[in-house]
Amino acid sequence: MTKPNLLSGMQPSASSLHLGNYLGALTQWVAMQKDYNAYYVIVDLHAITVPQDPKELRENTRRTAAQYLAAGLDPEQSALFVQSHVPAHAQLAWVLNCITGFGEASRMTQFKDKSQKGGADNSSVGLFTYPILQAADILLYQPKSVPVGEDQRQHLELTRDLAMRFNSRFGDTFTIPQAQILKETAKIYDLQVPTAKMSKSAADPKGLINLMDEPAVITKKIKSAVTDTDGEIRFDQANKPGVSNLLGIYSAITGKSVAEIEASLSGQGYGSLKSEVAEAVIATLDPIRVRALELLEDKGELDSLLAKGAKKANEQAEATLALVYDRLGFVRP
Ligand code: AMP
Ligand code: TRP
Repeated sequence: MTKPNLLSGMQPSASSLHLGNYLGALTQWVAMQKDYNAYYVIVDLHAITVPQDPKELRENTRRTAAQYLAAGLDPEQSALFVQSHVPAHAQLAWVLNCITGFGEASRMTQFKDKSQKGGADNSSVGLFTYPILQAADILLYQPKSVPVGEDQRQHLELTRDLAMRFNSRFGDTFTIPQAQILKETAKIYDLQVPTAKMSKSAADPKGLINLMDEPAVITKKIKSAVTDTDGEIRFDQANKPGVSNLLGIYSAITGKSVAEIEASLSGQGYGSLKSEVAEAVIATLDPIRVRALELLEDKGELDSLLAKGAKKANEQAEATLALVYDRLGFVRP
């Protein structure tokens, strides 16, 4: 039986993924590759919707790829590729631009948030049409399922609307994709501000555990995590967010239940909890960091893995684009 297609994407916007990305998204992507014909795209065209330093963009694109491979994305099973290696993304985006209403695009909340931050006059037209390029990313691969975080729900709705609109105007062309909102069971919070989601834009770098952090750095960050003064190791999100976050991380990393962890540490202090969490996090992340650095040592090999992913992606994407151009009435060469 052929496996259903699946596509997801991430921006190459940081030099390291963080523990939230790893536990909240990457581990699920790795698990899904067995059951799906998966395409995972590093969206460099999306990255340039806000200013990027060319040297950093090039470096971060490879670093992102290396971390995905190191964490277990299997290039034999899944296509891992760079968006700009597949010209059909920009080509289909143009077509979809032409069937998207201006008002419809104006309602996208991520654009409103991002353009407010930079000042509306400084926002590019690319940032405005970002969700339409994302729709193209998705529809080219005819996926049934698109695993994303909750914040991408509106972009997935737009993608579905555009697919249905195209299909009804021009005949059945696109599979209508379903958003598969990633389980928030592994929602990870900032170590310094444990009521805020762990995020690369953390105010204090000590709050953020990076996949590429050295073990000593991870230990230091976990040791200085904010806790509370009652001294009891107990999960209570509302009243003990810091301790609860450490328990949540420990549980997500080891697969042990929170109850089991509470029982095994009962009567001990926060120092013991932190030592065990640090040890468990390092045991999982360090092999990934080491492997990613190895992959980055050999850029030729890494680039050839990405080229292989792009070849597979191009085959699927070109087939969809050819059908689209034909449906639109373009004379084909
Ligand atoms: P972002 O860095 O915001 O683009 O996140 C990429 C994906 O990682 C999101 O769609 C989430 O599924 C996941 N993610 C990001 N931050 C966290 C977090 N603090 N806890 C759990 N999952 C997260
Ligand atoms: N917009 C997504 C994000 O910020 C990244 C993305 C681009 C994406 N194209 C995609 C996600 C296609 C899923 C499918 O996280």
